Amino acid sequence: MAEKGRVCVTGAGGYVASWLVKLLLSKGYMVHGTVRDPSDEKNAHLEKLEKAPENLELFKANLLDYDSLCAAITGCDGVFHVASPVPSSKLSNPEAIIPHSKSVELVEPAVKGTLNVLKACSEAKVKRVVVVSSGAAVSMNPNWPKDQVKDETCWSDKDYCRETKNWYSVAKTEAESGAFEYANRSELNVVSVCPTLVIGPMLQSTVNATSLVLIKLIKGGWEAFGSRARMIVDVRDVVEALLLAYEKSEAEGRYICASYLSTAQDLVEKLRTMYPSYNYPKKYSHTKMCNTLFPNLFVCVFFVCSFAEVEEEVKVSSEKLQRLGWRYRPLEETLADAVKNYQEAGVLDKN
Ligand SMILES: NC(=O)c1ccc[n+]([C@@H]2O[C@H](COP(=O)([O-])OP(=O)(O)OC[C@H]3O[C@@H](n4cnc5c(N)ncnc54)[C@H](OP(=O)(O)O)[C@@H]3O)[C@@H](O)[C@H]2O)c1
Repeated sequence: MAEKGRVCVTGAGGYVASWLVKLLLSKGYMVHGTVRDPSDEKNAHLEKLEKAPENLELFKANLLDYDSLCAAITGCDGVFHVASPVPSSKLSNPEAIIPHSKSVELVEPAVKGTLNVLKACSEAKVKRVVVVSSGAAVSMNPNWPKDQVKDETCWSDKDYCRETKNWYSVAKTEAESGAFEYANRSELNVVSVCPTLVIGPMLQSTVNATSLVLIKLIKGGWEAFGSRARMIVDVRDVVEALLLAYEKSEAEGRYICASYLSTAQDLVEKLRTMYPSYNYPKKYSHTKMCNTLFPNLFVCVFFVCSFAEVEEEVKVSSEKLQRLGWRYRPLEETLADAVKNYQEAGVLDKN
């Protein structure tokens, strides 16, 4: 296969980024992957990917260290900016900057980190940057008309997110809007993709925040959970969307990436028919999902846009992405592959 060119993936060892690196290698790209600690065992899976020995180079880089990003991005035609803190526990100071720290303090690493990546891309004359944003940067807008499906013109209201302490939404909205502001005042070509809740099998050995929610749902631990709808997307479909956003010359602006609207009850019933013996929640209630599915405040805040509490938040459309050629797999496939993966990884007992 002919070489497709050289691209950089930030946060290469993470859940979404690992699948992206795998896809890019399979398509013939040379990949520069940034990781905070190349010697950390949690990044070891990257070197085992097919074609990694010849086509993947890992760079030690932190989002808050501009020079480290420049070293990884130099020589690349394109950059996928995936890295951003996705904490699964409440933060002591979500807005803190902690240079060179592995701490997951949130807003400033996301926002300043994105600007650092974009500046490094300008410096390296990168042709296109695909920024991974989130449904959290789309949905938290109380002023959007209630009967209108949210599309890419809808932005989360930063003040509202701050007032309601939705720090993850603050981080992703500021990072994404800052990226487009930077693009407007520079020559840089920036496209963003906004996935909702991402689930599906993991390539990495450590369990990421969103996989943990599904694992806990299947494993038991929730007495009851809310019955509102949620938007779900398979991690492998997300990375296909990222590749389309990179490769399609006509791609521009933002792309919402969401496949299925499923109530919590639908999801568990589907899982129960496939794997009857797990310890699923026993009750569906109309109590706030944050209090039941996400007793940890921060995880609740992170998921509020995907596992929506507010009915209008769930009405988001991926039509624009589909017009670009995006397709997604059946939800049953996602669930089956995820459960198989959790069993093989030893995080879930065999049913
Ligand atoms: N999972 C979802 O449901 C979902 C939904 C929508 C959008 N997203 C977005 O998708 C992206 C990836 O998320 P994920 O689910 O794959 O989470 P993840 O597995 O936790 O990956 C996050 C990555 O960001 C890196 N990172 C964090 N802070 C960093 C810093 N200061 N410097 C360098 N790297 C840093 C982490 O590196 P370390 O391994 O060193 O910590 C990790 O590789 C994020 O931008 C997230 O906002 C995720």
